Amino acid sequence: MTSKPVSLSPYKPRVFSGVQPTGNLHLGNYLGAIKRFAELQHAHDCIYCVVDLHAITQGVEVWGGPEGLRRATREVTAAYIAAGIDTKKHIVFNQSQVVEHAELAWIFNCIARMGWANRMTQFKEKAGKDRENASVGLFAYPMLMAADILVYRATHVPVGDDQKQHLELTRDIAQKFNFDFADRIRELGLSSGEYFPLPEPLIAGPAPRVMSLRDGSKKMSKSDPSDYSRLNLTDDADAIAQKVRKAKTDPEPLPSEEAGLKGRPEAENLVTIFAALSGEAPASILQQYGGGQFSTFKNALVELAVAKLSPVGAEMRRLTADPAMIDAVLADGAERARAIAAPVMRDVREIYGFIQE
Ligand code: AMP
Ligand code: TRP
Repeated sequence: MTSKPVSLSPYKPRVFSGVQPTGNLHLGNYLGAIKRFAELQHAHDCIYCVVDLHAITQGVEVWGGPEGLRRATREVTAAYIAAGIDTKKHIVFNQSQVVEHAELAWIFNCIARMGWANRMTQFKEKAGKDRENASVGLFAYPMLMAADILVYRATHVPVGDDQKQHLELTRDIAQKFNFDFADRIRELGLSSGEYFPLPEPLIAGPAPRVMSLRDGSKKMSKSDPSDYSRLNLTDDADAIAQKVRKAKTDPEPLPSEEAGLKGRPEAENLVTIFAALSGEAPASILQQYGGGQFSTFKNALVELAVAKLSPVGAEMRRLTADPAMIDAVLADGAERARAIAAPVMRDVREIYGFIQE
């Protein structure tokens, strides 16, 4: 569908990613997204956004109403900070404070073709059976995501597998824009013809897919009605211990080799979680715990999960207890984000011929 960018050299390498403020952050969000964002900050300039405009694309039970949205926005911000993201060196802010996102999204609504948007599998999943009743915003969601990334001319986007299709659409939009306006871009002296980079997904090693603690075939998810299905980042040590001890397993002991995990999704999931939290390879974990009782392994997992997660949760609780401090971080981040986004949006207005001061 897309080709490699001709050259990224005119663009400063820049990482952009976002997390929606919709409900409880859990271990999957942490291992699959936030922890990886923090790891990238040592080698890249990073912009991490709390995508509150995306959060309102579904009904009030998802976006949470004004109080829920504020709480969740601060919670994601706290998770970014608790994971170690340096908000002074990098940019952390909420999307709605930088109006350029919404403005560029409108432009991109007019670039993307219906056929492209119609192929998005996430829309089909989220809209479910009653597609006629989905919001137009849910359909337009990928164009807003493209705007998030391209308004900073970001070159690298750490995302999970589920977002790769949206990133491909972003590349298609960038490419069509560059192509349609190539003459105008050159005429205005904005670049040699490619205004937007074609951003690449950034996947540092295999992203762990964390499954539900109650059903190894389902992803750990904030929308699962059972709280026992997930480890929330704000769970305290007791809750973590209880949930791990109650996690579903099967009657067999743990195998001594990875191959023995095949067809045993619950056992595999607990080993994956252990591996992601400890940094050890599954093979060496199984060497140690294989053949033994699940309870021995679960005790070790409780100890590990409490050691790794409860400091993050405690830090998040400490941070969210001071909403004014979090809001100040977001305001400062938004100001620095605007300084990058505003000139890009000015260029885009100029390219189109919108009269501006
Ligand atoms: P969501 O909560 O679905 O909006 O996801 C936010 C981010 O967390 C996305 O980038 C996902 O890739 C990641 N994520 C969500 N659930 C999981 C999971 N169960 N395992 C791994 N990553 C996840
Ligand atoms: N759609 C992403 C998700 O649900 C969140 C998101 C919005 C995002 N804008 C983005 C991720 C830009 C990466 C880049 O996880």
